[in-house]
Amino acid sequence: MSSKFFVTTPIYYVNDAPHIGHAYTTILADVLARFHRIAGDEVFFLTGLDEHGQKVKQAAEKRNLTPQAHCDDLAPRFLSLWQKLDIRFDDFIRTTQERHKKIVQLALQKVYDKGDIYVDEYEGWYSIAEERFITDTEHSSGQFRDVKKLKEKNYFFKMSKYQQRLIDYIESNPVFIRPEHRKNEMLGFLRQPLGDLCISRPKARMDWGIEIPFDKDYVTYVWFDALVNYISVPGYGSDGVRFKKWWPANVHLIGKDILTTHSIYWTTMLFSLELPLPKTIFAHGWWLMGQTKMSKSLGNVVNPLDLVEQYGVDAVRYYLMREMVLGLDANFTPDSFIKSYNSDLANDFGNLLNRVSGLIAKNHGGKIPDPGVLTTVEEEIKSQANALVGKVTQLISAYQVQEAVVSIMELVRILNKYMETQAPWKLAKIDFKAAERVLYTAAEGLRIVSIMLSPVMPNKTAAVLDILGSVGRSPVWGGLKPATVLKTHEPLFPRIEVK
Ligand code: ME8
Ligand code: MG
Repeated sequence: MSSKFFVTTPIYYVNDAPHIGHAYTTILADVLARFHRIAGDEVFFLTGLDEHGQKVKQAAEKRNLTPQAHCDDLAPRFLSLWQKLDIRFDDFIRTTQERHKKIVQLALQKVYDKGDIYVDEYEGWYSIAEERFITDTEHSSGQFRDVKKLKEKNYFFKMSKYQQRLIDYIESNPVFIRPEHRKNEMLGFLRQPLGDLCISRPKARMDWGIEIPFDKDYVTYVWFDALVNYISVPGYGSDGVRFKKWWPANVHLIGKDILTTHSIYWTTMLFSLELPLPKTIFAHGWWLMGQTKMSKSLGNVVNPLDLVEQYGVDAVRYYLMREMVLGLDANFTPDSFIKSYNSDLANDFGNLLNRVSGLIAKNHGGKIPDPGVLTTVEEEIKSQANALVGKVTQLISAYQVQEAVVSIMELVRILNKYMETQAPWKLAKIDFKAAERVLYTAAEGLRIVSIMLSPVMPNKTAAVLDILGSVGRSPVWGGLKPATVLKTHEPLFPRIEVK
């Protein structure tokens, strides 16, 4: 049964070029979107850029540009990286766009009219890096950089009013915050009284933001602005029919660094706006370099473009999806990249293709042979292939992408093992029909594996399907038609030789 699938990524700060961490979340969203499209779902995949706030303003100042000129200069870099990574988003929001700004103002006005925003004078510790007032406990933890004492009049959102409702919601909706340990972390956080949220910045101090509709001297806090993208784009306040169709989102994919802003700020904002909450907020772990988080401010980032240029986009997408168990941290090393590429793609997947196409060319006139009557060995492979589709669908709907990739690659290994034990190159001389049966089975298995891997590696799998002459994209056994002419090809995944 087909349904709708609305997936979002964080909208990234335009303070520097994107790195592999940003690429990861965006590829992950793309992979999920592609799996759902294959399943026949109607998909809306939203990504974009967070262009307001202090961080962006400071980045612009460093370059002697106006914030808008800075954003206009950097936005194409994100877009061209997404293009190089084969990201097929449906919309790309920039928070400086009019369509977004007016909806943020509408939301602010609504929350204000409801009585959920009040004005107050506040003195506290302000973290420039985090762009928010931090609590005394957070301050004494010593974990925050760039902290200074600030006193000013500001507008506050009555987040505390919704604390109990949020706790009840999280407890009665087990898949709302995932993975499980992140949900428990948020429930732990909510055991202490929730403060109210400062949602304004006086223009005198920070003017790069969306003006507050009920006070011209203030702009709104960058998070009250950014989070609204998830509803401004699908049509909140502008297109009721479209909004009703897409909202609530099926999943907000985020990194664990922004779990609090999503599961507490955003959800209480939605309560105040009287809108349903997203079905799932999924916080994945961090890509680490050694023991530390890869981050722009630390300067230890891997540039995704370098990798793509060296190894190709599909290999990069494969590595990222194969190596990170969703919810846990993962370590990026060039070594593990090469290892995973050589063993999974060059050895297993690439070799299966080379053997199948090579033997069919050599002994079978370059045409897909007739399978004839399958023996129990082939019946077993066939039923494993057919079961794979259901298994992968189930894993993907549970956001177990790494496990899904692993189970697809398991079938590749089974097929390679089958080829080795059956040895169709020997069979061609003693039992030609058996050789035909084996090569049909291996080729058909390869076809199904390619379809299942296509969300992860859209280019290489399309090439395999083209070589096999597979017309349809149905992952049901029996799609390859005997007598189809195979195309000749170069090795798809040449081994990376390490010196
Ligand atoms: O937080 N490992 O933007 P941001 C894995 N504008 N993922 C990583 C990562 C790493 N080392 N580094 C970054 C913001 N990410 C806000 C979001 S949303 C309404 C506003 C990914 O540019 C991960 O998805 O700091 C993380 O949550 C996001 O980039 C933060 O991007
Ligand atoms: Mg960040």
